[in-house]
Amino acid sequence: MEIDQLLAELRQKPLPRHVALIMDGNGRWAKARGLPRSEGHRQGALATERLIRFAAEKKLVPYITLFAFSTENWARPRQEIEFLFSLLEDFLRKKLRELAEAGIRLWLLGDMDKLPGRLQAAIREALSATEGNRDLNLAVALNFGGRWAILEGVRRALAQGLGPEELTEESFRKLLPTGGLPEPDLIIRTGGHQRLSNFFLWEAAYAELYFTPTLWPDFGPEEFLLALRDFQGRTRNFGRAVE
Ligand code: FPP
Repeated sequence: MEIDQLLAELRQKPLPRHVALIMDGNGRWAKARGLPRSEGHRQGALATERLIRFAAEKKLVPYITLFAFSTENWARPRQEIEFLFSLLEDFLRKKLRELAEAGIRLWLLGDMDKLPGRLQAAIREALSATEGNRDLNLAVALNFGGRWAILEGVRRALAQGLGPEELTEESFRKLLPTGGLPEPDLIIRTGGHQRLSNFFLWEAAYAELYFTPTLWPDFGPEEFLLALRDFQGRTRNFGRAVE
């Protein structure tokens, strides 16, 4: 189907406010072509850029989160980790003006302290340069883990001296690193595995999950729109009885 026709169809019904993406399959994409894993990540970064540009331009979804590096990814070879960090730093430095002009506001979810100093500096710069933007909120989950995030919320609650009676689902939610974002309505995972891999845990409570075998470098705007259409066909009852 034509992208424009799909877009017009999608705008007739409620769209998700927040879509989170687990970008999996870069390594397999490269392996299938006899290329080094780094090439898969490079192509993955290009696919990410294309999708972000498209999403910002079409203004379909106000919040997108990208799971770029998990707390478990430290177990990868040092060379691969360094390559991923350099891709991200490059992206932030070279595309900052473009991001800012496209109306994108960057958010960072994750334990920044453990990242290389140069990457931290690029992140800080990008966060402040895009602070005033409103067209697309782009959260990058970097050194992020769902369990880490919950523990971080607990640490903040303890640091603020909150008593047991003051802790409610709503007050706790605001203490989470994702507290400034709406809850994800849709989580898309590419690459064929059907699991959350310690991504959003608390936040995923009522998210719709969409799994596709497409490897991340091949995931384009059209398939993103097809995932949104699939989302629109689902009945969300949040635990209530369906009428
Ligand atoms: C999973 O593929 C992908 C990652 C661990 C990294 C995701 C990062 C990118 C797509 C680059 C992000 C860049 C920007 C600019 C945000 P995998 O290596 O686990 O693939 P495999 O399961 O096939 O081995």
